[in-house]
Amino acid sequence: MKQTRMKTFPAIPFLFASIWGACIPGTAQNHVDPTGPVFRMDGGNVTYAFGVNERGELQQLYWGGRVAASDKIEPAHSDPEWASFDSSYNNTPQEYAGWGSGLYMEPALKVTFADGVRDLVLHYVSSSKPADNALDVVLKDISRAVTVTLHYRMDPESGILARSATIENSEPKPIMIEQAAAAAYSLPAAHYTLEYLSGRWAGEWTLNSETIHQGQRVLESRRGTTGHQLNPWFAIGKDDADEEHGDTWFGELAWSGSWRITVEQDTLDKVRVTGGFNPFDFGYQLKTGEKLETPAFYTGYSDHGYGGASRLMNQFTVTHILPEAPNPRPRPVIYNSWEATEFHVNEAGQEALAVKAAAMGADRFVMDDGWFGQRKDDHAGLGDWYVNKEKFPNGLKPLIDKVHSLGMDFGLWVEPEMVNPDSDLYRAHPDWVLNFPGRPRLEERNQLVLNLARQDVRDYVFGFLDKLLSENQISFLKWDYNRNWSEPGWDQMPPDQQKEVYVKFIQNLYWVLAELRKKHPGVEIESCSGGGGRVDLGILHYTDEVWPSDNTDPFDRLSQQDGFTRAYPAQVMMAWVTDSPHWANNRSTSLTYRMLVSMQGSLGIGGNLNKWSDEELATAKRLIASYHQVQKTITQGSLYRLISPTNGSEFSATETVSPDKSQAVFFAFVHSTQEGRSFPRLQLLGLDPAAEYALTSIEGKTLPGTPEHASGAWWMNHGVDIDLHGDFQGAAFRLDRR
Ligand code: GLA
Repeated sequence: MKQTRMKTFPAIPFLFASIWGACIPGTAQNHVDPTGPVFRMDGGNVTYAFGVNERGELQQLYWGGRVAASDKIEPAHSDPEWASFDSSYNNTPQEYAGWGSGLYMEPALKVTFADGVRDLVLHYVSSSKPADNALDVVLKDISRAVTVTLHYRMDPESGILARSATIENSEPKPIMIEQAAAAAYSLPAAHYTLEYLSGRWAGEWTLNSETIHQGQRVLESRRGTTGHQLNPWFAIGKDDADEEHGDTWFGELAWSGSWRITVEQDTLDKVRVTGGFNPFDFGYQLKTGEKLETPAFYTGYSDHGYGGASRLMNQFTVTHILPEAPNPRPRPVIYNSWEATEFHVNEAGQEALAVKAAAMGADRFVMDDGWFGQRKDDHAGLGDWYVNKEKFPNGLKPLIDKVHSLGMDFGLWVEPEMVNPDSDLYRAHPDWVLNFPGRPRLEERNQLVLNLARQDVRDYVFGFLDKLLSENQISFLKWDYNRNWSEPGWDQMPPDQQKEVYVKFIQNLYWVLAELRKKHPGVEIESCSGGGGRVDLGILHYTDEVWPSDNTDPFDRLSQQDGFTRAYPAQVMMAWVTDSPHWANNRSTSLTYRMLVSMQGSLGIGGNLNKWSDEELATAKRLIASYHQVQKTITQGSLYRLISPTNGSEFSATETVSPDKSQAVFFAFVHSTQEGRSFPRLQLLGLDPAAEYALTSIEGKTLPGTPEHASGAWWMNHGVDIDLHGDFQGAAFRLDRR
């Protein structure tokens, strides 16, 4: 028989009301109930509430649009048993359920005790005094000394809630954690649609939409890293929620290792979303007195559909997640030489490209792969981070000086966590790679993964990067990661601790990034993993931007950007203009079209400038200059996806409005018009209806009769007609408040 403890609750604030502001504790809703405390968090347009039920379990009470401060949230009562097959423990929307007591839903935490017991039932113990919109709640197993501290922090502006958990073992013997989530969130029975992002190399950011049915939909990576296949983001819309309307819940995990989000509908049609470490092949031994911290799971709610959800999340990322939050500087327009020269870099060739890039108006010159070790192609050199003397006989200084003299800063490509077997590093330390001794080591792109979980590897990686940055005037690192894990063994550890590699590798990655930033505060970093294989809120806490995809075909990019911006802001979405025809689809497009597509994100140029005509160089220069004038609005403003390019749409359009609504920039694209069809009239969104805005063309024309200036109400209600026909054509306009 399960022991159920009846509790007396310590004195705690019964109303955890707002946080950073708006709702004042101590109003009529402040109540004491014999059943147990109620915690309430309000921020933005969101209220989140949970309480302790009569058994002592922590139970979610509400998550959705903000309710009035005067509304009383009833104390928690567990949901009843439905039948002998569906216990109350299973049916109750627990905040953080241990696997035990007949739980069939996804557990938040599953452990095995030293004596083989695998039953864990977590009950409320205490809570911290709420401060800074944050609250800690402590749970403990009903008989054993395992505690979980749940951390809650709600952003007062957006209502975005960050949750994570710290698990502590105070048992006399170690416990094995087999599964640990950051948090679980629940929604009542209703009709829901799940949206998520999937992909593959060169095909990231596909938006999927499907009805939530009974059972689980698992979004995950087992790859040791975030992965191209699925991104740790979800959105759930209720009933007919669409781009701009309806109840939408969303969330993102801040973790760059193997992760999992399960979205499941229980037998009574309620939905629970659980996210954290991927339990597949997971095992973390917690010795007496040790703790394990989970990553954070950020979630939010919007009543403005999927568009509203992404605007909240993207604004939050810019103002709270990025290393330079709340005011990250707009990304310098980069020129990157990868597609021009690939591995064949040398001083003269890079300098020639730098001259052209500077003339065009680039702010930053980045030399990509090929500059180090014996790197002639992807067969050798990774791990040997010294400058290749044949290519750069005088080191990097002459090139860096040249780049600086041209008025740009200098960036460099590195792939710190990898090694080629053909390298001095591997020959010296064959034991430094992830592997199971005596078993084959799968090479992908001819490389192996260094086991960054090891302290000596971590120190080596930090050491060479620190040296590189100390000895050279480098402003930017493109930090690449070109394969996923295989055979993830760590044979220097006892067998029951080897799986900790899943946690410690990523912790050390974050450590290296944090220490580098501390020691070299001017240096910015891009997260790249063969394109968009490592994009998540965890890495974005330490990196300023990401590379969304190696596929820069502009038409493909339209859809990718549509998907990407659902989860991440244009501020971090690097978008290069490369050459045409593009290798991915052998598609030819004009430079203007390619520029306009990339100008919707953080613009870069990645083509072979030696082949660009004077006219093309002039077009790029003109559009870079226009871009600079509106870049902050585009990359840090509120994005409205007016017409999505997905599902075979002939047209697409985006609009971004600056936070103070003084400026809006909108882009329109046609794939291939048919039968002379006109571009749909664009009714803009998010403007100040009473303000007067002047319309200026960045590229392209509106139809005759379009006013030069009009009220926000006019642009939003009447709309604007754009003159756009043909194949792969684009246009861009700005509205400025007068
Ligand atoms: C990855 C990146 C590319 C480029 C190459 C260099 O594929 O995504 O942009 O840097 O590596 O090897």
